[in-house]
Amino acid sequence: MEIIQNQSLLKLNTFRVDAKAKYFTVIKSENDLKEILKTDLFIQNKFLVLGSGSNILFTKDFDGLIIKNEISGIKKINETEDTVEIEVGGGVEWDDFVLYSVENKFYGVENLVMIPGKVGAAPIQNIGAYGTEVKDTISKVKGILISSGEKKEFSNSECCFGYRDSIFKKELKGEIIITSVVFTLSKKKSVNIGYGSLKSEFEKQNISDPDITDVYNVIKKVRTEKLPGVEEIGSAGSFFKNPVIKREKLLEIQKDFPEIVFYEIDENSVKLPAAWLIDKCGFKGKRAGDTGTYKNQALVIVNYNKATGKEIEEFSVQIKNAVLEKFGVEITPEVNIF
Ligand code: EPU
Repeated sequence: MEIIQNQSLLKLNTFRVDAKAKYFTVIKSENDLKEILKTDLFIQNKFLVLGSGSNILFTKDFDGLIIKNEISGIKKINETEDTVEIEVGGGVEWDDFVLYSVENKFYGVENLVMIPGKVGAAPIQNIGAYGTEVKDTISKVKGILISSGEKKEFSNSECCFGYRDSIFKKELKGEIIITSVVFTLSKKKSVNIGYGSLKSEFEKQNISDPDITDVYNVIKKVRTEKLPGVEEIGSAGSFFKNPVIKREKLLEIQKDFPEIVFYEIDENSVKLPAAWLIDKCGFKGKRAGDTGTYKNQALVIVNYNKATGKEIEEFSVQIKNAVLEKFGVEITPEVNIF
């Protein structure tokens, strides 16, 4: 196992922030990970597991050990007439797994095409897009406990999934490293095309009975139009979560903004699109030096060239304050800030 000192993180985070890690190593297997956990370097330093670096903002150098998860493998472990169970290594690129599922006509994750990141990160924040959340396809999450080095498995319900949330972000934060995820996908046709922008795109393309490949292609098109590709421009996707507010608060906002879009959560609460709130505050496409919000999606903060993590964070605070002042709603980052 090789430990690198002062590793540049520039190419290891999609925001393309120029930070460094004091120590850096790559793991390619569970055994590599177990070895690392026993070292003094691990015990004496803080650590961070990095996947594709696509949901992270470094505001300073990381004064500890970064472990890059490159545990690979996509294998079918069980199959019935209707379903298939697939175990995928935590270091597999999420989109490679989506492509595998689409090519094999295994239904369930096609709406999550083009989400940057690794499979091991997907359950942590329960990635979601276009009316689908990954929690609906996960049957198990496997990992190694940091305190004992033991293997541990979590059933779907033990993961306590919520909107962009799970036990791995809360009680188990920093306690476990995810090594693989087991998905149960459907072999029977079952597509989820209810999301507004999808429906209109299918109508436009005259597709009345879309199959898995149509869904995959249409979402790729919609995403490419709305979201910046991380190869072209630095970003970490949505910067904030969509806030959940009390229904009374919605009524208050509707007095001034009757057109506001919202999603039902339960009888007392609704979820608002943070993009809409930010847009209404005049921030869409706004630029501050080398950072700003994306021209087609106000929820995405971008790095045009050489913005520092601090500059991006400061800009995000300006947005947060503007939304709080105008609507009295607090928005919180979806991106992990270090
Ligand atoms: N809107 C605006 N202004 C904008 C952009 C959007 O007013 O600049 C409005 C839209 O008209 C729409 C609403 O806001 O009514 C929601 O917009 P959109 O459908 O683009 O989705 P979102 O809620 O902003 C979420 C996810 C995205 C995911 C999309 C599509 C979160 C935090 N974000 O965004 O996920 O791709 O839905 O399903 O839940 C990510 O997590 O990194 C991410 C990109």
